[in-house]
Amino acid sequence: MKKLMTLAVLISLGACSDRDDEVTVPEPDGAEHYALYCAGCHDPGPGHGGTMLLAEKGAPVPSLIGREDLQYDYLHAVVRNGLIEMPPFRPTELSDQEIEEIYEHIMSQELPANAGNPASS
Ligand code: HEC
Repeated sequence: MKKLMTLAVLISLGACSDRDDEVTVPEPDGAEHYALYCAGCHDPGPGHGGTMLLAEKGAPVPSLIGREDLQYDYLHAVVRNGLIEMPPFRPTELSDQEIEEIYEHIMSQELPANAGNPASS
């Protein structure tokens, strides 16, 4: 009987730690979503369509990283609706929370010193 109890305790402990594992599996964060969905077009420097286009339009900081005027509501609207050549992202691709995390990642980054305006070089 005692053995059985021990077994039951062990099994329930096992079940608990299983659940813990699921919770601690890291979800992709803002940095990863930015890298996956935005960096290709918006990273600093030449070769990034969004950065190049915004530079041509005369943006002082053409990449998203390094922008200090970027408002969350504006970024959210652009991501949801697209903007001219930028494709929109549906909620099944990026949730509102994921967009917010991307925004926080962008705002937390400093522009690398060597990543000036590609149009001005
Ligand atoms: C396929 C390339 C592409 C991808 C991917 C892309 N963008 Fe863009 N984005 C653009 C282009 C091009 C523009 C400039 C549109 C214009 O003004 O003509 C732009 C503009 C923007 C603007 C407006 C900037 C301004 O100053 O008005 C924001 C904000 C933005 N993108 C955020 C994002 C975010 C966040 C992601 C990732 C979820 C993303 N973009 C993914 C191409 C892209």
